[in-house]
Amino acid sequence: MASRSTYSFLSLTLITLTYVALCSPLPVTFAAQYNVVSLGAVADGKTDSSKAFLDAWASACSSSGPSTVYVPMGSFYVKAAAFNGPCKSNFITFMIDGTLLASSNYGMIGNSANWIIFRHVTGLNVYGGTFNGQGSGLWACKKSGKSCPGGATNIQFSNSKDIFVSGLSSVNSQTFHIVVNGCQNVTLQGVQVTASGASPNTDGIHVSQSTSVTILNSRIGTGDDCVSIGPGASNLWIENVACGPGHGISIGSLGQNSQEAGVQNVTVKTVMFTGTQNGLRIKSWARPSNGFVRNILFQHAVMNNVQNPIIIDQHYCPGNVGCPTQASGIKISDVTYQDIQGTSATAVAVKFDCSSMNPCTGIKLQDVKLTYGSQVAQASCAHAGGMASGFMQPSSCL
Ligand SMILES: *[C@@H]1O[C@H](CO)[C@@H](O)[C@H](O)[C@H]1NC(C)=O
Ligand SMILES: *[C@@H]1O[C@H](CO)[C@@H](O)[C@H](O)[C@H]1NC(C)=O
Repeated sequence: MASRSTYSFLSLTLITLTYVALCSPLPVTFAAQYNVVSLGAVADGKTDSSKAFLDAWASACSSSGPSTVYVPMGSFYVKAAAFNGPCKSNFITFMIDGTLLASSNYGMIGNSANWIIFRHVTGLNVYGGTFNGQGSGLWACKKSGKSCPGGATNIQFSNSKDIFVSGLSSVNSQTFHIVVNGCQNVTLQGVQVTASGASPNTDGIHVSQSTSVTILNSRIGTGDDCVSIGPGASNLWIENVACGPGHGISIGSLGQNSQEAGVQNVTVKTVMFTGTQNGLRIKSWARPSNGFVRNILFQHAVMNNVQNPIIIDQHYCPGNVGCPTQASGIKISDVTYQDIQGTSATAVAVKFDCSSMNPCTGIKLQDVKLTYGSQVAQASCAHAGGMASGFMQPSSCL
């Protein structure tokens, strides 16, 4: 037995060494490193370092072995940049000790949909880094009612696979902070999102058209949804997230389009909301659509002074335009709320306002305790079916 396992250990070592010698320019444990400062980036917050970042990426992406782009301490001014794959290796690391800074002139990136985007990459690790979109100028423009650019997302991962992001901070994005779209197997952990509670449209993390996305141990304070879940999101796991200020964790808005991929198998667990507009929300347009929401679990949530702790709103129609039937086509089923407690900032702590054409089915409430100051909180139901069990306060309207 012993000699046999020693033999297989030796042969494995031999195969590995042969592989390294034949196939990789450097031993696997010493990944090629591309330091943006060696490539001309300047950590003064104003010299345009975009080219150094793109050059570092081009080298990493064309390496056949594992490679690392390294960003040292300091602040680097970077214009809108796309880090495109496919790359030669499935093991690229972005190691960021410093800050990427967008221009404070919002016009510089405001007409790009994204400031920083990764596209068609398989096997990317991003460690650390602060991404500061300097969005306050654009927010002010939008509030003034002037015509303004749409704004850029701080960071997007698009059509990519096997992405691991740890310890990243996103600050003052012009619009959404972090977008995961068209991806598979993405983990975001220890992420921090920071922007004013009054900043318009600054969703923290947005996931759409993606499967197997995990968001862990993150702290999100922003002006819109902390996490928003769009069409085509499935197998999404969100755990240990603190949200506030912000609009809560939201599935939706869905059903803006008549043909739309559904949302299914979403777990949101151990989350805390502080002073947010919503807690756990599902939101759809009051328009025809073939979309759906099914198999959702909301578990162990704490609400601190939240305006709508539990809400399904299927009557979204801003300005009341383009909603001919005023009923949503989105079919919502099998949504479980388990162990939800804390304080509501309004009398109606639980609200299920479902579609008259497609009533919600299989809503389950279990162990809910929501209070409204010294008064009794209320629940309100329209076109919602399901059941309640365990401790229920407010008493169930299902
Ligand atoms: C998911 O991606 C990680 C890298 O972030 C990788 O180690 C893991 O093997 C991938 N999982 C699957 C099932 O492909
Ligand atoms: C639901 O998603 C989780 C990951 O969040 C995954 O582990 C599980 O297999 C999925 N379940 C189904 C039925 O696809």
